[in-house]
Amino acid sequence: MLIKAVYPGSFDPVTNGHLDIIERASRAFDLIVVAVVRNPAKDAMFSIEERMQLLRQVTAHLPNVSVGHFEGLLMDYMHLLSAKIVIKGLRAISDFESEFQMALMNRTLDSSIETMFMMTNSRYSYLSSSLVKEVARLGGSIDELVPVDVAEAVEARLLRAKGETLFLAADHQG
Ligand code: PNS
Repeated sequence: MLIKAVYPGSFDPVTNGHLDIIERASRAFDLIVVAVVRNPAKDAMFSIEERMQLLRQVTAHLPNVSVGHFEGLLMDYMHLLSAKIVIKGLRAISDFESEFQMALMNRTLDSSIETMFMMTNSRYSYLSSSLVKEVARLGGSIDELVPVDVAEAVEARLLRAKGETLFLAADHQG
């Protein structure tokens, strides 16, 4: 029987830390579905489709990894895929409390599905999509933090946003 695992997250955008988890999980399980979900608590830079496209690009070298998305409950998506394992990355103790809560909530919803935690590579223990966006917005380099395709996409998005702001300011002035 092939073991299918789902790695859910916002991935806005995918970072080297996420990619490290995906690569290691792809060696541990037969099939990995990286599942993008909108997190209403977070400010998005990329649409769901854009995040999926970036994930497809950066996982193209991993034949047993596919990319999907869902809305609503993770457990419903697990049922839809007939998957039994949820993968989560743990960066620091600070992640533990919310991850523990989510894992127990998910187990309450369906006790046949296991959440398995993978410790992040220590190189990436400080890394998050939110910090990547903040550093890029403030003009810092994100080249060491995300794959090349992602760095280019972030740069393009920030240039577009800057152009729109200038256009709006010019329009406003008359
Ligand atoms: O990358 P993120 O934003 O930390 O990922 C959080 C995510 C998407 C894994 C979490 O928000 C989630 O599982 N959302 C689905 C909604 C859900 O099932 N909620 C109830 C159980 S926690």
